[in-house]
Amino acid sequence: MAAMTAKKAGKRASGAVRGRKRRTVDVALGDRSYQIEIGDDWLEPLGRRVGDRLGAERIALLTVPTVARRYAPALTRGLRAAGARVSRIVVPDGDATKNLRQLGELYDRFLDQGLDRHSAVVTLGGGVVGDLGGFAAATFLRGIPFAQVPTTVLAMVDSSIGGKTGVNLKQGKNLVGAFHQPVGVYIDAATLRSLPRRQRAAGAAELIKAAAIWDADFFDWLESRIEAFLDLDPKVVLPALERACAIKAQVVERDEREGGLRRLLNFGHTLAHTIETHARYRGILHGEAVSIGMVFAADRSEALGFSPKGTRERLQSLLERAGLPTRVPNRPRRAYLSAMAVDKKKQGEEIHFVVLEGIGAAGTTSLRPRDILPPGWKA
Ligand SMILES: NC(=O)c1ccc[n+]([C@@H]2O[C@H](COP(=O)([O-])OP(=O)(O)OC[C@H]3O[C@@H](n4cnc5c(N)ncnc54)[C@H](O)[C@@H]3O)[C@@H](O)[C@H]2O)c1
Ligand SMILES: [Zn+2]
Repeated sequence: MAAMTAKKAGKRASGAVRGRKRRTVDVALGDRSYQIEIGDDWLEPLGRRVGDRLGAERIALLTVPTVARRYAPALTRGLRAAGARVSRIVVPDGDATKNLRQLGELYDRFLDQGLDRHSAVVTLGGGVVGDLGGFAAATFLRGIPFAQVPTTVLAMVDSSIGGKTGVNLKQGKNLVGAFHQPVGVYIDAATLRSLPRRQRAAGAAELIKAAAIWDADFFDWLESRIEAFLDLDPKVVLPALERACAIKAQVVERDEREGGLRRLLNFGHTLAHTIETHARYRGILHGEAVSIGMVFAADRSEALGFSPKGTRERLQSLLERAGLPTRVPNRPRRAYLSAMAVDKKKQGEEIHFVVLEGIGAAGTTSLRPRDILPPGWKA
């Protein structure tokens, strides 16, 4: 394939792609720097690398049932080969697991198993175990190291990178959390083979988001390969994961604590959150809501004069080819307005709304909900 290059000043290109070779992406954050290692079918050696990197005597391996059954044995063999004593903690599947009660149970298990300041946590699974396990690691004994082994597309390209960890409260998602960078992110793309296609597509929405806000060449590249990505062709999956991880890494490097640039990652998320709230987080996956939200935001970006005509159409067509929904659910304007009014990213009356400035570039603008959804707007 042609190399994906980021021509824009300041955006780092990841270089040409070399077959199925293992690849590494740096996340440069001073003394909290780490690497994302991406390979295919290497779970046991991956475990060995994680274990060597952590150098911990005891490791709590946090995972969920489906993932545990398939992947925990090989990963554990690798961790043990590095000399660690590994205890497996399996928590129930689903976002509802990211709660304070579950967190309390984790601390109990850590103490029962004799974890101390020289111990570490490894999370194996999607964003749910990554966020929960990362937050447990951030807070147990005021913080012990952890490593992420993400097994969903979403976790590989988004949630495992950047150090945001946390749990939900009954009042809302991710309301309690901490920044705690992992010591490394270790990806085995082969784990995606058991991930349902709908989940793959939902994760691909975040990958398309990364391309849309940051890298026009990557977007072009994906336009001729999105089906191959969803079919998990390794010649496409590995470079695509690498590029999307590199984009997230670059954004996080420049804005670790979300002062400005990191907000670009919220592209499509203002409307997505309102859709998820209305659906009470049931029946629609986060990536699906983001897909709809991105098309909406791209449409508003054109209407407000930020991006050239045709931008929304290109984005929408790529998302649709990925099998993602793009139509805003039919609800009255006021329902969307009131959901936006409680957006936690809100400052005063205005929302930092992410607009596209064309494919591959984005910016933020402060808008009141009623300007995002002007009178007469219909879903
Ligand atoms: N920390 C961050 O920066 C950040 C960013 C985005 C999202 N998030 C969080 O991430 C979570 C969503 O992550 P997610 O989409 O990965 O959801 P998830 O962790 O619930 O995983 C989705 C589903 O896939 C299953 N699964 C995972 N890997 C599998 C595999 N290889 N084979 C078969 N099944 C597998 C899981 O059991 C689950 O049912 C949310 O809680 C969200 O708040 C965090
Ligand atoms: Zn998201």
